[in-house]
Amino acid sequence: MSNPTLLILAGDGIGPEVMAQVERVIAWFGDKRGLAFDVENDLVGGAAYDKHGTPLHDDTMAKAMAADAVLLGAVGGPAYDDLDFSVKPERGLLRLRKEMDLFSNLRPAQCFDALADFSSLKRDIVAGLDIMIVRELTSGSYFGEPRGIFEEDGQRVGINTQRYTEAEIDRVARSAFELARRRGNKVCSMEKANVMESGILWREVVTAVHKADYADVELSHMYADNGAMQLVRAPKQFDVILTDNLFGDILSDCAAMLTGSLGMLPSASLGAVGENGRPKALYEPVHGSAPDISGQGKANPIACILSFAMALRYSFDQGEDATRLETAIEKVLSGGARTGDLMGPEGGKPISTTEMGDAILAALDASL
Ligand code: IPM
Ligand code: MG
Repeated sequence: MSNPTLLILAGDGIGPEVMAQVERVIAWFGDKRGLAFDVENDLVGGAAYDKHGTPLHDDTMAKAMAADAVLLGAVGGPAYDDLDFSVKPERGLLRLRKEMDLFSNLRPAQCFDALADFSSLKRDIVAGLDIMIVRELTSGSYFGEPRGIFEEDGQRVGINTQRYTEAEIDRVARSAFELARRRGNKVCSMEKANVMESGILWREVVTAVHKADYADVELSHMYADNGAMQLVRAPKQFDVILTDNLFGDILSDCAAMLTGSLGMLPSASLGAVGENGRPKALYEPVHGSAPDISGQGKANPIACILSFAMALRYSFDQGEDATRLETAIEKVLSGGARTGDLMGPEGGKPISTTEMGDAILAALDASL
């Protein structure tokens, strides 16, 4: 049997720096755990624009469709701010999500004990936090039509459309319920049914799916604004949060900061399960390209490495090795290793991106 394939799209800014550490981790699992992957690298975002004049070349799109999993670093940067909207780096990422039909975006927010004092919230509010945001990723106001900037009565109007079909809500709701069954068995669905028809439909469909097939899971509903408030008031009340594309974008940044640093948060974007028994899948850190620190060896590679751990778990059914990697990272953090983003109240000397990679590989060696 041939090895599973990974397409690596390191992208822009700190993307290539953090991805270099992920490649070392991938090689480690090949050498030491017999989990060999065929890895191919390609361009996305500004890097692809610089070479091809488009943030995602059709050949790269085809490779992503064929790969067993895609690992993405980050896209965007100030050099691309003035580009036409249609070729902005972010369009490359959105095209991947849309054409791969990655409707279920899993964003875990877990507070590592060693970092509980780094959160902007008090330790007892975040210590032990383990929530999962399931964000719908292929529809809603990111993609709804009509959209654009139009002339109307002598002035311009900017239009985006919040639009969800029953089928779109149904499938992402199912993925949230399935996930909840493997965790704390609770789903809180967030929308704005008090002001938006799309929210009313969202609530109806989620309720119907629950009643039909997942009545064993505890379901609650919350308006998304209240959800944002509850996330900073008492985040441990949640297990799985199910929400749409735009609310999920905002709520997941908020949840990320509960854990101490955006440099810690991985994500998985999953589509339907294909003939090979695997879902179409893209794994990426929640953080962006961080142009302010890019090229300086300061970036924290953990979010990107944890994204590979999610790939092991969700694409390759290697839950045990995913846990091995997560545990190695936890050990490194409790041993005091810190990149600059993790400089807490106690201060200290930050280590570099590569040194963090070294420490994680050493902890992996120790796990054998
Ligand atoms: C995210 C990012 C993206 C989004 C950007 C880079 C297009 O903020 O993945 O959360 O808005 O979805
Ligand atoms: Mg975002």
